Amino acid sequence: MTLILGIESSCDETAASVVRNGNEVLSNVVASQDELHVTFGGVVPEIASRAHLERILPVIRQSLDQASVSLEDLDGIAVGNRPGLIGSLLVGVAAAKTLSWMLEKPLITVDHVLAHLWAPVLNGANVSYPALGLVVSGGHTSILLLKDASTALCLGKTIDDAAGEAFDKASSILGLGWPGGARVDNAASKGTPKHRLPRPKTKGDRPDFSFSGLKTALLYGVRGNPVRKDGKTAFPRDVSMLLEQDVFDWAASFQEAAVDSIMLGIQHAVTDNQVRCIVAGGGVLANTLLRKKLEAAADSYNIPIHLPDFNYCVDNAAMIAGLGYHLYERGHRDQLTVTASPKGIAS
Ligand code: KG4
Ligand code: ZN
Repeated sequence: MTLILGIESSCDETAASVVRNGNEVLSNVVASQDELHVTFGGVVPEIASRAHLERILPVIRQSLDQASVSLEDLDGIAVGNRPGLIGSLLVGVAAAKTLSWMLEKPLITVDHVLAHLWAPVLNGANVSYPALGLVVSGGHTSILLLKDASTALCLGKTIDDAAGEAFDKASSILGLGWPGGARVDNAASKGTPKHRLPRPKTKGDRPDFSFSGLKTALLYGVRGNPVRKDGKTAFPRDVSMLLEQDVFDWAASFQEAAVDSIMLGIQHAVTDNQVRCIVAGGGVLANTLLRKKLEAAADSYNIPIHLPDFNYCVDNAAMIAGLGYHLYERGHRDQLTVTASPKGIAS
């Protein structure tokens, strides 16, 4: 039996989790900071790192208590040290290094993007390799070719906004608030995708993505083309002029275009690579339409697909502990000199 404590602080969730043998989640504590960033309509890095500092120790304590394990029972400490906001990552890394030094237990650093692809394993998935990995979140939109859970080649990624970021911006354009993904998803369920928005294709062979043009097309569609007036740029319309049903229809149109763009990348990557399954993770995997389309696509390719349950889609530390276990079993150990990095395997 191997017990790993996972620590996650790459963006605006402070999280800790104890996982047994890589897939039995004994505790999964996530302290979200949404209420601290909501007035800014997005994550403010300095506020995020300060909040991590205040929350990290109580969150770790709670995760141990909920799992009914003591620090001495642990076999190793895993921490997401890349990619992410550097000030935020450093808080989790400092906590993990301190525990590792104090307890004389192994320290294992984990790539956050690869950890998202461990999430389905926490729900009992048995992933066979080589696999095609899709990570779609607030910070990342990447397609990876996985030789195993920790050995991957990045086949493609977004060249501008991440898909989740585009959902958040679409939500703000539509006056639905922040964080936006679930709000757009919910509004879209009541609308019809009657507006044609762009599905950008990048040039060349890579299954790369682009979402910033889609976001601008939505903005101009909703508010009209901007005009110069008195030296300033102004929109002819305001979102408050839309009927509720119009907002739902624009949400449905945006969602369909964003999901189609992701599906184009998948199609490209599956056609070019021999894979035994698709495995996916990240906050945007909570999206109803994306899940439906991915399942239908895997069916048509005749390969299994592994999607995480909703609670493991968004950032959590159980996925960090899980991938940490995989690395621990392979003898991977990090030195106390290791640090955080804003870049990872897919950035
Ligand atoms: O994985 P995650 O917690 O953060 C990063 O690692 O970046 O993902 C958060 C993102 C946010 O942008 C949020 O708007 C999006 O996931 N999201 C959704 C849905 N639920 C959350 N996007 C589309 N549809 C949803 N239902
Ligand atoms: Zn994430």
